[in-house]
Amino acid sequence: MNMKPIPVKEGNFNLKNYDETYNNFDWEEVKKNFSWHETGKVNIAYEAVDRHAENPAKKDKVALYYSDPNREEKLTFSDLKTYSNQFANVLKKYDIKKGDRVFLFMPRSPEYYMSFLGILKVGAIAGPLFEAFMEQAVEDRLQDSEAVMLITTPDLLERVPQDKLPDLKKIVLVGDTTGISGEQYIDFHQEMEQASDHFDIEWVDLEDGMLLHYTSGSTGKPKGVYHVHNAMIQHFQTAKWVLDLQEDDIYWCTADPGWVTGTSYGIFGPWLNGVTNVIRGGRFTPEDWYSTIEKFKVTVWYSAPTAFRKLMSAGEKVLKNYDLSSLRHILSVGEPLNPEVIHWGMDVFNKRIHDTWWMTETGGMLICNYPCMDMKPGSMGKPFPGIEAAIIDNDGNQLPPNQMGNLAIKKGWPSMMRQIWKRPEKYESYFVGDWYVSGDSAYMDEEGYFWFQGRLDDVINTSGERVGPFEVESKLIEHPAVAEAGVIGKPDPERGEIIKAFITLNEGYQESEELLEDIRQFVKKGLSAHAAPREIEVKDKIPKTRSGKIMRRLLKSWELGLPTGDTSTLEE
Ligand code: WTA
Repeated sequence: MNMKPIPVKEGNFNLKNYDETYNNFDWEEVKKNFSWHETGKVNIAYEAVDRHAENPAKKDKVALYYSDPNREEKLTFSDLKTYSNQFANVLKKYDIKKGDRVFLFMPRSPEYYMSFLGILKVGAIAGPLFEAFMEQAVEDRLQDSEAVMLITTPDLLERVPQDKLPDLKKIVLVGDTTGISGEQYIDFHQEMEQASDHFDIEWVDLEDGMLLHYTSGSTGKPKGVYHVHNAMIQHFQTAKWVLDLQEDDIYWCTADPGWVTGTSYGIFGPWLNGVTNVIRGGRFTPEDWYSTIEKFKVTVWYSAPTAFRKLMSAGEKVLKNYDLSSLRHILSVGEPLNPEVIHWGMDVFNKRIHDTWWMTETGGMLICNYPCMDMKPGSMGKPFPGIEAAIIDNDGNQLPPNQMGNLAIKKGWPSMMRQIWKRPEKYESYFVGDWYVSGDSAYMDEEGYFWFQGRLDDVINTSGERVGPFEVESKLIEHPAVAEAGVIGKPDPERGEIIKAFITLNEGYQESEELLEDIRQFVKKGLSAHAAPREIEVKDKIPKTRSGKIMRRLLKSWELGLPTGDTSTLEE
């Protein structure tokens, strides 16, 4: 708490003075940056791409550098407009309309971004799915959202249980479609060749839906977090002041668009500001990452603690082979940013790594470290101008500095989710009075800096990815050997948390290395690699409440050797 802050250095930042700006901020002023402020015609894809493509000074600027081990592409704002128009025409041809849910399930590629923008241009709602999802995860999300179209690759098709998805009418395939037949299939490249590059954008209302991100809670199946076009107001301004994006920046956000960071700040933030965006596909090795920075002369880099820790453990030997001097500004999101990582960043880049805090539900950054502000390592920073953050108790009363409680935000910021898809009661459960309650515990110090303490529910954060224990437990008990399962996050120095499962076995099964590995693989193949438990422990009994709820808290106390607390609700 009384740690000495790391002071501001001379920078290139857009936000010159945090306190003054915070005290005088008005979202209404931000709206003046958008063309709809004058024309009344709204669409986030127009503001992100077409607007720049129509500007002679900007149209030939590189919007997207794409690179993976097998492919290099460069698209200008004008190219992006053309291709997304073409794809919008393909969607229109197949009768996709405003409000329809169109999902994307494929690795990053230029086609991903063209399609995503095309979906928005017809006024449909984009639903990005992480490419590592397996059959069950894909089924749950497509079923719940009643998606009518999916854009995927021939390779991933086997993970799409089409017979269980009556609403899914069409599947667009990006890649070689030889040998695939059926009237539901649409060949991406074939259709694009024939499509006109002129498209009349579907103008929408600021409150119309544009994005559905599925995310995990502690109970039930993943829920569809629904975002509207209005979110652009926050994407634009946070990208300007927190990412500190400037005209000549080369910006790289390492997140996949299957997660909210990869859409809010992998698509909207940079492009709404007309900034060049680097997308690196493929898997992550420290060498790849450093070479991406070197090759594209990345100036602003937004990543995650788990990645920084990986680079840190790769050490000097790897680092010294690369010229990383282009870097001007580094940021982090997704899990607690350890002070140790910040000190490493100071050592190797001579740069502060700026933590940012927000969630899928919040749509955009809320609490951040700004380039213009002294930074306290370990603190998430201060609220973005226009955001009122507080620590509250369970009744919604604000707590004084240094007291731990629920981290809450006064509702009504521009990028706040507007619904949980088809579950109004779930949506309501996030709010206490005027406060959106995050589910994170934190405290605020006397100087207004916020400090993250942990999750208040059982949601697991493994390598920055949010995993719901219920989803994993449900999959585990589908395995013939597993009778009951309880799943927790276990602290891990590199991954933040790993997934640990406690199970009981059905009659006739004996614990063995092979069996546990088989169970692990079962979850991995059914759900996704990141949701598969790294550790499985066989128990005689899984502790439950008398109403049958698994007591994950007790499992966690056992695991950590902590006092078990109140167990009065435990069943016999
Ligand atoms: C956690 C990611 C500590 C937190 C954008 C939150 C963080 C959840 C930070 C949301 C941070 C996010 N420090 N914890 N800077 N940022 N988290 O929805 O528990 O994938 O509630 O959104 O990640 O994860 P989500």
